[in-house]
Amino acid sequence: MNDLFLRACRCEPVERPPIWIMRQAGRYLPEYREVRAEVDFVTLCKTPELAARVTLQPIDRFGFDAAILFSDILVLAEPLGFEIDFNPGPVLNEPARDAARIDRIPDADPRESLGYVYEAVKILRQELGGRAPLIGFAAAPFTLYAYLVEGGGSKNFDHAKALFFSDPQAAHRLLDKIARATQTHLAAQIAAGAQAVQLFDSWAGLLGPELYDEFALRYVQPIVASLRELNVPVIYFALNAAHLSESVARSGADVIGVDWRTPLDRAARQLGGSFCLQGNLDPCVLFAPAAEVKRQTEAVLATGKDLPGHVFNLGHGILPRTPISAVETVVETVRNSGGP
Ligand code: CP3
Repeated sequence: MNDLFLRACRCEPVERPPIWIMRQAGRYLPEYREVRAEVDFVTLCKTPELAARVTLQPIDRFGFDAAILFSDILVLAEPLGFEIDFNPGPVLNEPARDAARIDRIPDADPRESLGYVYEAVKILRQELGGRAPLIGFAAAPFTLYAYLVEGGGSKNFDHAKALFFSDPQAAHRLLDKIARATQTHLAAQIAAGAQAVQLFDSWAGLLGPELYDEFALRYVQPIVASLRELNVPVIYFALNAAHLSESVARSGADVIGVDWRTPLDRAARQLGGSFCLQGNLDPCVLFAPAAEVKRQTEAVLATGKDLPGHVFNLGHGILPRTPISAVETVVETVRNSGGP
C-alpha cells in the first residue's frame, strides 16, 4: 500500500515528498488524446469505465503517489438544473443572474443523478489496488457559483461579483444551495472510496478579503469540517489568493494548495500555523530544457523540506502542450530526493 501521500497530508514522517500533478489525466498524454478521439469530454466524464481508465493512465505511466478521479467541477451543475456543454470551455444554459432564476434552482441531491461519479470511484479503488490513494474533488462553492451566475468562463466574472452588491441575499441563497450539494457530493465520493478530497477555488483570487470571507470562506469552512469528520484529509486550493492567506488559514483544511506565484516558504509564513502545503512548480517550467526542469524542481523541494508536510505538485494544472519527458524529469527528481 503506497500511503506516502496520506502520511504527508497528515504531517507524518515520509521518506520523500509524494508527487501528483493537477490535471494529470489530460491532453498532454497521447493515450488520453486517443480516448478523446473516440468520445467527447462529457461522455468521458459520464462513463465510469472510461473515466476510470483515463484516471489510471498517468498512474501507469509515471507511478504518481496519488490518483485524482477523472471528472469535472462542473458535473455538479446538472443536478442543480443547468445543462452544460464544453466548447472547449464550459457553456451553461440559463445562467442564474437574478433572484427569480436562483429561486428556481432545485434543492439537489447529487446522489440521484451523479451515480456515474461514485461508480467510477468504486471501480478505481479496485483497479488501483493500493498502488496510490484516490483523491475525490469538487469546486469550492464560490467557484461553482461564479460559473453558474456567469454561464461560462470569464475574465472578471462581473455578473457573479455584481450580484454580491446588487442582491447579496440572492447570492447567499445560491451559495447555500451549492454548498449543500457540494458537501453531499464529496461525502458520497468518500463513501464510495475516495481517500482524500480537494476543493478547487479557482476564482477566489477575484475577491478582496471582505468579499472572500463573506461569500467564499464562510461556505468552505462547514464543508471542510464535515468532511474531516469522515477521517479523510481535505486539501483546499485557492488560486491567486496570496492576499487572502490570513483567511485561507482559517479554512480548516489539512493541506493548503499553493499556486506557482508564491514561494512555499513565504506561503508558510503568511499562513502561520502548521500546515502541510501542496505545490508549486510553475507549469511553464516544464517547457524548459531538462537541466532547468531538474533545477527548478529541486528548488521547490528545498523550500518544501522545512515545512511540517509537503505534497509535491505543480502550482496549477499541467498545460496541454507539456512534453512527457519534462514530467519524467520532475518525477525522477522528486523520487530521488531525500525528503524531510
Ligand atoms: O486533475 C485531473 O486530472 C482530474 C480531472 C479534472 C478536470 N477538471 C478534467 C478536465 C479536474 C480536477 C478538473 C477541475 C476543474 N475543472 C477546474 C479547477 C481546476 C483549475 O483548473 O483551476 C476548473 C476551473 C474546471 C472547469 C473546466 N473544465 C474548464 C474551464 C475546462 C475547459 C478548459 C480546458 O482546460 O480545456 C474544463 C475541461 C476539462 N476538465 C478538461 C479536462 C481534462 C479538458 C477537456 C478535454 O479533454 O478537451
